[in-house]
Amino acid sequence: MSITFHNNIVHIKNSAISYVMEVVDRKYLVNRYFGKSIRKYRLSGIPHYFKRGYNTEHDCSIENVSFDDFPFEYPVRGFGDYRIPALTVKQENGIEFIRPIFKSWKILSEKPQLDGLPSTFAGNSKVETLEILCEDKQAGLQIFLYYSIFDEKGIITRHQKIVNIGTQTLKLQNVQSVSLELPAQDYDFLSLFGTHAKEANINRFPIHHGIQKIESVRGSSSPQHQPFFALMSPQTTENNGEVYGFHLVYSGNFMAQVEKDQFGSIRAQIGLNKDEFCWTLSDGQSFTTPEAILNYSCNGLNGMSQNFHWLYQHHLMPEKFANKTRPILLNSWESMYYDVSLEKIDKQSTIAKQLGIELFVLDDGWFRKGNDSYSSMGDWICNENKLPGGIENVAKLIHNKGMQFGLWFEPEAISEDSNLYRTHPEWTLQVPGYELTKGRHEYLLDLSREDVQKFLIETLDSYLKDGLIDYIKWDMNRPLTDVNSLEIDCVRKGEVSHRYILGLYNVLDTITKKYPKVLIEGCSSGGARFDPGMLYYVPQNWTSDNTDAFDRVQIQFGYSLLYPPIAMGAHVSITPNHQTGRTTSLNTRYQVARLFNLGYELDLTKCTEKEQSEIAQQIAQHKIARDWLLTANLYRNQSPNENYAIWSVVSDDKSQFEVIIFQKFHNPLFSHDKFKLCGLNSDFDYMNVDDKSVFGGDELMQVGLTVPLIREDFHAFSLKFVKI
Ligand code: DGJ
Repeated sequence: MSITFHNNIVHIKNSAISYVMEVVDRKYLVNRYFGKSIRKYRLSGIPHYFKRGYNTEHDCSIENVSFDDFPFEYPVRGFGDYRIPALTVKQENGIEFIRPIFKSWKILSEKPQLDGLPSTFAGNSKVETLEILCEDKQAGLQIFLYYSIFDEKGIITRHQKIVNIGTQTLKLQNVQSVSLELPAQDYDFLSLFGTHAKEANINRFPIHHGIQKIESVRGSSSPQHQPFFALMSPQTTENNGEVYGFHLVYSGNFMAQVEKDQFGSIRAQIGLNKDEFCWTLSDGQSFTTPEAILNYSCNGLNGMSQNFHWLYQHHLMPEKFANKTRPILLNSWESMYYDVSLEKIDKQSTIAKQLGIELFVLDDGWFRKGNDSYSSMGDWICNENKLPGGIENVAKLIHNKGMQFGLWFEPEAISEDSNLYRTHPEWTLQVPGYELTKGRHEYLLDLSREDVQKFLIETLDSYLKDGLIDYIKWDMNRPLTDVNSLEIDCVRKGEVSHRYILGLYNVLDTITKKYPKVLIEGCSSGGARFDPGMLYYVPQNWTSDNTDAFDRVQIQFGYSLLYPPIAMGAHVSITPNHQTGRTTSLNTRYQVARLFNLGYELDLTKCTEKEQSEIAQQIAQHKIARDWLLTANLYRNQSPNENYAIWSVVSDDKSQFEVIIFQKFHNPLFSHDKFKLCGLNSDFDYMNVDDKSVFGGDELMQVGLTVPLIREDFHAFSLKFVKI
């Protein structure tokens, strides 16, 4: 890993990647290359510029250069570059114009942490950072661009710090976390789109001339679009080809856009959504953007995923949980919904303990006046008619059985019918004079306010301080509306969405620092706020309210592009499934959940003895497997056709692996189908532990394995191989 300067060129590199920039005429910072590692860059691949009509002229030593086709590293509009800008600043005179010029660069030997924002950290890896300063003296503006490179992996992290060094007040109207120029080539765009209960669907299409954009303006990163996209050659598959991944470490409004210009060159950006943002920067103040992750792989999508998985497990999620197996849990939601009672909890947790379950999670309902979502949000006081003795009593009951106890909260919400709302109506997001908009019958607290943050910290603290709670499910069930804070003055109204997220991060930061041992699972009606920003505080996330095994395959498959299995919760629920009405076998439901953080979400008292004993076996098996799964690498295998989803987990030393095959339908036409394994050691021989058949690693990766013929629809099964 090195960062070197030579003849106005800076080369950031490690064994996987090179990132090269040039300063032209000691003024203009341009991107020259990002991709597979090269030894040295000597200005190859520079486009030809020639005189064209209807063009602008520039003070630049490159003859006939067109700024509309110049690969600016952090572009602004106003002097000849008409493509999407990374930064837009309004000066006090009302003019949206700045013209930053390169000033200097320097190397930092550490990974900077971002003020009030989550970000990746070095952990036990080596990281070097390049800091570049650009300046517009007249506007009184400094822009610091940061590039951190990790040893060995195809990852560069990016963020900016904008400083007002002048005397006028500036308005930041658009400030992207990264802007990247890529050469004119054909690319496919890939993103994850979805909705509640059907998150993380893969969307892949060829980039066309013009702008292509995905975004969230919902206040959270949202199930509609993950704050991620990838650009790749049209030939790229799971295991071959180049991929550029972009992911934002942020949990609120974002935009991600790609512009293919007149010559086919690409500009790609990800950052805060400019439509919901305007930040006032008074003299002496600074603003830091969220961090963006740039990920390059020349080994297809699996290569990209391996980079993300490594980064997120070891350099983003709380370090304490990165190498910690998670307790197998029983969650009360689908078995009790709001109608919780001590009797049900007692009966279910007794069986749970017998079957080997380690954590009982009491979901929604425990504090509600009734058995619905119309009231009580914000009054985090246990309803003792449902649970005599309160949460303390429930926690003791569970602990006395030798299990951990977990509790559900939706800290950001407030019901109209609550004492909190009656006492503090000013604490909600609201626009004076207009009726408030409800979502799931509730409003949202104004987390930009310090008094609201303090209230949330104190409320959570009151539950955590006695050590009765080992796990929290942190839910958030509606998008933001009425985005206005009664506390923020008119000039700063465009800051509320971002300040909400900063407030959320402050609460999470305080609580997780004070209670580092408490496991927190993020949730937002499932995966509506599953993003790297949340992962910095909470080491796992509930991926979807849809617990149907058939749909879960697609959802987990989609999320596996980005997140390691240890970041995802997956539960075995009842059949027919509550969301889809589909029936799948208990084994299939388990197979679909078992590579992730395993849980159960069904009424164990209604399971037959046979089902209970099957669950006990699953749990016993998972307890053995979860240790090596923690350090294993997950691959998606290229499926022979749409009928299958196939993933494998390979141990770090490649001495064992398991393959999970999910078959949608039994179809005799597919009897010849085979798939190729990936990530194995070519020189090892592996034995199938069930039928004792032996294959070479090279054979399995080159020739492939025939998909076993199973006469059952919606069927998942696993094959385990060990090195002999
Ligand atoms: C939405 C979550 O995704 C569910 O798992 C459950 O916790 C409900 N909220 C409870 O209201």
